[in-house]
Parts: sequence; C-alpha cells; structure tokens
Amino acid sequence: MKNIHVLFTMAFFVCLFICRVKLLDNGLARKPPMGWMSWGYYRCGVDCDENPGKCLDEYLILSVADTIYNEGYQEAGFEYIIIDDCWSEHERDSHGRLVADRSRFPHGMKYISDYIHAKGLKFGMYTNVADVTCMIYPGSKGYFGIDAMTFAEWGIDYLKVDGCFASESFLNTAYIKFGRYLNKTERPIVYSCSWPFYIQFIHHNKPNYAQISSHCNLWRNYLDIENSWQAVRNTIKFYQNNYPEISKYHGPGQWNDPDMLIFGTGVLTEGQSRLHLAVYAMLSAPLLLSCDMNKLTAYEKKLLLNMDLIAVGQDPLGVMARPYDLPHSITLWVKRHLPMKGDKYYSFSFALVNMETGEATVSFTPGDYGLESVDGYSVMDVFSGKFLDNVTLTNRITVTVPSQDVMMYTLYAL
Ligand SMILES: *[C@@H]1O[C@H](CO)[C@@H](O)[C@H](O)[C@H]1NC(C)=O
Ligand SMILES: *[C@@H]1O[C@H](CO)[C@@H](O)[C@H](O)[C@H]1NC(C)=O
Repeated sequence: MKNIHVLFTMAFFVCLFICRVKLLDNGLARKPPMGWMSWGYYRCGVDCDENPGKCLDEYLILSVADTIYNEGYQEAGFEYIIIDDCWSEHERDSHGRLVADRSRFPHGMKYISDYIHAKGLKFGMYTNVADVTCMIYPGSKGYFGIDAMTFAEWGIDYLKVDGCFASESFLNTAYIKFGRYLNKTERPIVYSCSWPFYIQFIHHNKPNYAQISSHCNLWRNYLDIENSWQAVRNTIKFYQNNYPEISKYHGPGQWNDPDMLIFGTGVLTEGQSRLHLAVYAMLSAPLLLSCDMNKLTAYEKKLLLNMDLIAVGQDPLGVMARPYDLPHSITLWVKRHLPMKGDKYYSFSFALVNMETGEATVSFTPGDYGLESVDGYSVMDVFSGKFLDNVTLTNRITVTVPSQDVMMYTLYAL
C-alpha cells in the first residue's frame, strides 16, 4: 500500500513538470515569420485573362521569389512565400488528393516549392478546416491526414489554415487534429491558425488563447486587413485594447497575428506607412507583404530594409510592446529587447504613435516605463539611424508627433 502511495506521489510530481499545458513544440517560428502572402492584394486571382495584373499563378509566385531574392528583401529577413486561397482545382483526384489548378500552376506545387527552396526561401500554402475553403475550393474536412501528407510531399514550410463555414465546436477540435496530422508528416511546417478570429468575430465567443497557443505557431486574432488606412488603424486599436489578454500568449514559437502589411497598395502616406510598420515591429508581429512587389515605393522599400526597425520586430525575446495612453491621443508603445548591457540591463524601443489628424506634443520620462540602467541610455532615432543624445532615467523627453505618424527610438543601456 505504502509503495503505491509513493508511486502516486511521484507520478504526481513528474506530471507537474510534463503534464501542464504544453506549447506547440515544433521548434519553428522562433521569430515572427516574415515574407509575402497572396491574399491581401491578389485575392482569389483567378480571372487571369481579364485581369492579368491580379493573376494568382505560377509566374507570379516565381517572380515574387526572384524579387525577394534579388532585391535585398531576403537579406532583411523576408523568407516565406505563401499562396492563399484559390490555388486548387475544384475536384480532388481519384486518390482524394488536392490538385493544383492545372492552367495557373501547370507544373504543380512541388515545382514551385523546389524553385523557392533553391533560392534559400520557404514556401507556404493554404487550406480551410471545413468542406470547402472561404472561396469555395475543396476544404480539408474529412481529409486532414491526406492533405497534411500532400502538403508535406510538396515540400511546404508553412500552412495557413482558415476556419470559414465551421461551427465553433468543430473549430475547437479541428485545429488540434490538423496540427497532429501536420506533426505526423515529420516535416517542419509552421502552423498558422485563423481559429481565434472565427471564435470571436463569427461565433461571438471568447477565444481560449491558452489552448490556441498550445497548438499553433501563430493565430489571427482580428478581421482580415483591408487595403486602407482605416483598416490599419482599426487593427492597431484592437491590439492596443486587447493587450492585457493576448500579450500573455505571445513569444518565440507562438505569435498573435494582425494579418498582412498593406505596403505596395498605394493607400498609405509615408507617415502612415512608418506607423504601420513601426507598430507591427513593436508588436513582434509577423511581417507579411501582400502586393505586386514592383509597386513598392522607394520609401516603402527603404523602411522594409531598415535593419534597425526590422531588428526590433525580429528580436529574439519576442516581447509584444505594451501600450500606454499619453495625452492628446498619443499612444506610447514600449518594448524590451536585446542587446543587453551585461546580464542586467535590456535595451528598449519607444514608439510614440499618433493615429489622429493634427500634430501633438507630449512629454514622458523613460524611467517610468521599466528602464533601470542608472548610467542612462543612448537614444537612436530608428528611422534615421542617428544617435541623438544620452538620457538618464529621470530626464523628461518632449516629442512632437506629426499627424498620423510615429516617432520611434531605440534606447541602449550605457
Ligand atoms: C512533433 O511533436 C513533437 C512533440 O511535441 C515535437 O518534438 C516534434 O518536433 C514535432 N515534429 C514536427 C515535425 O512538427
Ligand atoms: C553618450 O554616452 C557615451 C558613453 O558614455 C559617450 O561615448 C557618448 O559620447 C555620449 N553621447 C552623447 C551625445 O553625449
């Protein structure tokens, strides 16, 4: 009897270590994924004769790979090239497998995958958990195992799994099951889930982020981004308002995903594009472009290749910046990151965000936001790369932020 008691006690303590809710442990997405995804700009992209400028086909995907490879985006960290909905035939083959659209992807997906991999880049695809995808192509319901295996055979490195036309209870089991099938393929595949968006905005319930973050590498929290400033603003507001709830689950291997960047679509001013990318970097959000790569302006390209800015977004600690409300509707986002001075003092980035019209002047004291180095900090303007001044913990800093723009500084401990 006594031995059994000891056994149970031991089992209990072992369980304390290994039975607690485990995060998805596939070793992937240690930093927020960066790359390009078709949906935002190309949408379904099937009317290739009538609208060749928005055709989702092999030529497009290979040319995106070429541009990322040739024009410095790869060196900046852009890596995943992801085909969203509308890539398949409407019927599965006689073995129940998905088939790439024969006219738009004449060589099939393995060919594209090989092309992308030969450039040292990574390949992503898309499916939906229900019978059909959001755009009514074959969905994975009833085929999770076959589809996971097909995607693995095609050599994909990232899978976006959507949740259109699924009940709440089905979503809650399907994402877990699909993840298991992906794992079984033994191919490392970043698992992107749209799960919490559907729970909150379609089924009007509270997402269980503890559960979601234990099965997915990243997950969409909020609506699809549209190509407008208003959409960028609404998205940022959502992350600001929901910071206390969602920041807990965010970090290496597990990311909140505010959806794609809308660079290259011609709708943002320079200030708005600075703001868009700066907040995404502060959030440690995935940075996925969705545009005709040839339509990125010289200024947008400069921002995307600004390694001081990208380094904040790709920081290995993966902290989601915390928003503070300052006067005049300014939000001060503060993010702790590397490098450290010694083993004690972190660096920090501060982004002063003005989403309203009209410039605003605010003051703040760095020491109020978690900074500790008594020797102070050197301050770099992230957009110019210039070192401005050194500050102490008690210095009051006054900054004027233009209308719908951002001022962003990195503070390195002295
Ligand atoms: C499958 O899951 C196990 C356990 O979490 C993990 O160690 C392994 O890396 C996973 N494999 C793949 C290919 O995701
Ligand atoms: C900031 O401090 C560093 C280290 O003490 C020093 O080298 C540098 O000159 C200072 N910069 C300014 C602008 O005072």
